[in-house]
Amino acid sequence: MDKSTAQLKIQKLSKELHEHNYSYYVLSQPTITDYQFDVMLQELIKLEEQFPELIDENSPTKRVGGAITKEFDTVIHNHRMLSLSNSYSRQDLIDFEKRIQKLIEEEVEYVCELKYDGVAIGLRYLDGKLVQAVTRGDGTRGDDVTNNVKTIRSIPLELKGDYPKEFEIRGEIFLPLKAFEKLNKEKESAGETLMANPRNTASGTLKMQSSKVVAKRGLDCYLYYLLGENLSEKTHLGNLKKAAEWGFKVPLESERMIEKTNSIRGILDFIAFWNERRRELPFEVDGIVIKVNSYQKQELLGFTSKSPRWAIAYKFETEQAVTVLNSVSYQVGRTGAVTPVANLEPVSLLGTVVKRASLHNKDQIEKLDLHIGDEVFVEKGGEIIPKVVGVNVASRPSYAKPIGYITHCPECASALVRKEGEANHYCLNENGCSPQITGKIQHYISRKAMDIDGLGGETVEQFYKAGLIKDIADLYSLDPLKMLSLERMADKSVNNILKGVKDSLKIPFEQVLFAIGIRFVGSTVAKTLARNFKNIDNLKTATLEELIEVDEIGVKIAESVQEFFKDDKNIEVISRLKAAGVQFAVKESDEDIGVEKILTGKSIVVSGVFQKFTREELKKTIERLGGKNAGSISKKTSFIIAGEKMGPSKLQKAEKMGVKLISEEEFIQMIS
Ligand code: IVH
Repeated sequence: MDKSTAQLKIQKLSKELHEHNYSYYVLSQPTITDYQFDVMLQELIKLEEQFPELIDENSPTKRVGGAITKEFDTVIHNHRMLSLSNSYSRQDLIDFEKRIQKLIEEEVEYVCELKYDGVAIGLRYLDGKLVQAVTRGDGTRGDDVTNNVKTIRSIPLELKGDYPKEFEIRGEIFLPLKAFEKLNKEKESAGETLMANPRNTASGTLKMQSSKVVAKRGLDCYLYYLLGENLSEKTHLGNLKKAAEWGFKVPLESERMIEKTNSIRGILDFIAFWNERRRELPFEVDGIVIKVNSYQKQELLGFTSKSPRWAIAYKFETEQAVTVLNSVSYQVGRTGAVTPVANLEPVSLLGTVVKRASLHNKDQIEKLDLHIGDEVFVEKGGEIIPKVVGVNVASRPSYAKPIGYITHCPECASALVRKEGEANHYCLNENGCSPQITGKIQHYISRKAMDIDGLGGETVEQFYKAGLIKDIADLYSLDPLKMLSLERMADKSVNNILKGVKDSLKIPFEQVLFAIGIRFVGSTVAKTLARNFKNIDNLKTATLEELIEVDEIGVKIAESVQEFFKDDKNIEVISRLKAAGVQFAVKESDEDIGVEKILTGKSIVVSGVFQKFTREELKKTIERLGGKNAGSISKKTSFIIAGEKMGPSKLQKAEKMGVKLISEEEFIQMIS
């Protein structure tokens, strides 16, 4: 084929391929089959190989990729790439509308659109050809990612119709959910680390060196903002519609992805609509953008240094937020366990500002591959303390440093120890490390423990710092005069504390046992131990075997109990508590004296509604007679006291496990 025939052929194929591409990726209305498209593309590729001098910068073959960008050139934006001011509530929007109304004093038309969660891009066109694609960067200068952007099928490389000679159009490049899932599936089967979310994948993809890889990822782009001297229309929406005619992918009014309104009600209605349905979209959106439609009014309103006054973003509530990890600090708990905590750039999440998040332990930090300065994802999950769930490795600054885990206690400088099989590091300096000391006292006074009213966590710290208390036994010899000399301490508060301390002498042994803070001895275990050993001395001298023999006491707890009593400091504190009058033995109440513990060793489930007793009364009776109340049916259950309305699933389980059911009457007979 001679060169001029080739040239004609190349032009014809290019034009047709651009058209088919547009029908498929912008209109979602394919006009030929994938196979036919591929045959034409291959033909064009061959011709270009034969006549490289005829290759056009914007040939449809660029979609396949091939160009490698070793380093992205920095480009200064012709117009700064601003962001939008954010709002999180209806009130913020009402205020926005009022502000505008006050300045404009006549009816204002607003355009509501989706806020695409991707990467902002600026596309420059000259004579209908894409000449440059630049990322936002710092708003003033960004990276030239033209080669990679050319592979995005929905971005026209050549325009149709009556486009202006020169203009810029901005939009959001994003990764559709399907493409994101496909990529992660591939990564999973290759044993690679999965991508955290579509937004980061899009931003990472755009900065890849190989445009061939970018081409395969399936990025997409919606356009939302035009800039230029010669735009024919006087409104934002008018020009977006024009842009659609030139071949751009813009949101469709027919699908309510963009909507004009002249009232706050219309704005709030659009928001409510998408708040409900945003998860049905095939891509992620993180809010709604509201813009003043008229360019003339936009000009009147102008800009602040950061954002236009004529637009606002409304952010949907998210369970996840993105922010920066500033530093890591380490907290030492009452047991000596060290917890790393992320100090974050404050970020709003479900109505509160998050500044700190738990990092759990060293393994977790390593798993996340956290660096100081990283962009991280924070989630609230079920717990009160948010946690860091992921890192945007793609945006890691070059100066970011990995987190070297501490080797010594941040509070008392003793070497940290990590026991086999445990995830946490521990500071073993139990009696010389302040947060462990105050933590133990705080636990002792807490509601489920000694329930010392009037004394709070902060006061404990205040007393400790002032040298008034060094351990839990010191609470019983608090000097009122010294207390009064402290800040925020008045007669009333001092009296309350002293009364609370005195009242704690009535707290039963089982609660005391929980309060003294033996590791792994929670309130239920404390009850079991108290019931079985009756007093602290029996517990202290119990052998490992004797401890393990008790139902529900395993080796871990047994060893921990023994460990506790080996410590001289603990023995000393207990003897001082004893001297102060704290209960260290089970007190059999008068009604219990002489009661035969006929239910000892029995594990009983109470279920349903009863005639003569309430469920609570039945449970108390069981305990008083030495039996154990079990929450759920198991093989160990001795019998079930079944009332009316016992659930069918429980009945089924009882039958399956062969556990006997007895009625309220039968139970009364049994114990009488
Ligand atoms: S308009 C001068 N419209 O949100 C106004 N932005 O913080 C230019 N975004 O940087 C932005 N969807 O990356 C606009 N429909 C939309 C948008 C949108 C997503 C992004 C964009 C922008 C950021 C604002």
